Amino acid sequence: MSTVIKGGTIVTADLTYKADIKVEGGKIVEIGQNLSGNEVLDASGCYVMPGGIDPHTHLEMPFMGTYSSDDFESGTRAALAGGTTMVVDFALPSPGQSLLEALTMWDNKSTRANCDYSFHMAITWWGEQVFNEMEAIVRDKGINTFKHFMAYKGALMVDDDEMFSSFQRCAELGALPLVHAENGDVVAQMQAKLLAEGNNGPEAHAYSRPAEVEGEATNRAIMIADMAGSPVYIVHTSCEQAHEAIRRARQKGMRVYGEPLVQHLTLDESEYANPDWDHAARRVMSPPFRNKQHQDSLWAGLASGSLQVVATDHCAFTTEQKRFGLNDFTKIPNGTGGLEDRLPMLWTHGVKTGRLTMNEFVAVTSTNIAKILNIYPKKGAILVGADADIVVWDPNRSKTITAKTQQSAIDYNVFEGKEVTGLPRYTLTRGVVAIEEGTVKTQQGHGEFVKREPFTAANRALSTWKEVTAPRKVQRSGIPASGV
Ligand code: URP
Ligand code: ZN
Ligand code: ZN
Ligand code: ZN
Repeated sequence: MSTVIKGGTIVTADLTYKADIKVEGGKIVEIGQNLSGNEVLDASGCYVMPGGIDPHTHLEMPFMGTYSSDDFESGTRAALAGGTTMVVDFALPSPGQSLLEALTMWDNKSTRANCDYSFHMAITWWGEQVFNEMEAIVRDKGINTFKHFMAYKGALMVDDDEMFSSFQRCAELGALPLVHAENGDVVAQMQAKLLAEGNNGPEAHAYSRPAEVEGEATNRAIMIADMAGSPVYIVHTSCEQAHEAIRRARQKGMRVYGEPLVQHLTLDESEYANPDWDHAARRVMSPPFRNKQHQDSLWAGLASGSLQVVATDHCAFTTEQKRFGLNDFTKIPNGTGGLEDRLPMLWTHGVKTGRLTMNEFVAVTSTNIAKILNIYPKKGAILVGADADIVVWDPNRSKTITAKTQQSAIDYNVFEGKEVTGLPRYTLTRGVVAIEEGTVKTQQGHGEFVKREPFTAANRALSTWKEVTAPRKVQRSGIPASGV
């Protein structure tokens, strides 16, 4: 059984050309002219691109006294509907819990996934057991990324000595540390102060987490990574202060990556001033939405290469769940959705406005993260031998985003009412058509775990450089006799 995607223009991170693609056994087997096969998908007028990879999702995540409402079934269905063919979720051990035990829990959640997925392992506490288990996570379980939260004091937060120890361990194992960079101590103090002053509405969530809180933590994480001899990846970079720290580090030759979210690129802080409590609370996430100057900085970072990846941090809570914080903004579950909307929103506000080229669009939605996670070219590529995770993108299809027609399980959409142009005609997951012109044909359980090998090119280059420049004892010929 073979499928041919016919008559389209292939767009990758570095090339744009007309060719057909033949798919067999879930892989791309041929790229060329006038190909034939059992099933033909008409791609005329479309761009044929590697499916999106969203490296930052929280499906069925236990958080702030509840669980995020999209699970691996609805979450990956939403992903495919929007042209994303792989997600990477976070396994979160509770403090004191074994990493391997937490991974088993996440393995059980993911059995109904409609598309391929992988996991990052979170370091939420530190001890000999964590140090030891990190090796098994990398060597036996195929996970080469560890997440660290500098925020959520009293819950997920780790402090500097724990981060430094973990980053050093990552360097030894060839793994990449990820960081949620906000100064959790300062946030906790600001939250208490705002509440004491009677500021208990959702807007106070934003007041408690200004850009400086993020910039300081980003800079600190980068410096700690540099001292530990490790690359570092900063998740949900939302502001100029954080981007500036990343940019400066990269100019110095440090291996640092930054990940803006499509929400921060397209929604701003005015959302929190909305007189409707639900409207504002539905948009409570960390870091919060920022002003237009911060947005411009993030777009510039994507265009210039100082920021590499656009994700969603998809973490969807219903209005009912958001109302846990009716009288106290610190109890509003943090998180917003976006899996179905990432590609259409980024195409509409990026490619159609000229802020991104089509090739840059593919780079930041798929290819760059495939390289960072060490799964390229299995994922993130249109090449013979790559997985047939493909989106046939119709640049002329439009819709108005609305919760009424979305795949996500929640009752609203933070992009409600936004017009997008550029949508999938087909989405293929390992060769199987999951989306056809808005018709959902996903198969629960089709998704497979993607193992990721340690030691990326960046890990190797950095450890070589650290070895070359390591402090060395000066060899001296004549040592003076002591006491003379
Ligand atoms: O508000 C957010 N971002 N919720 C999800 C957890 C996290 O910090 O990524
Ligand atoms: Zn400590
Ligand atoms: Zn976070
Ligand atoms: Zn997150």
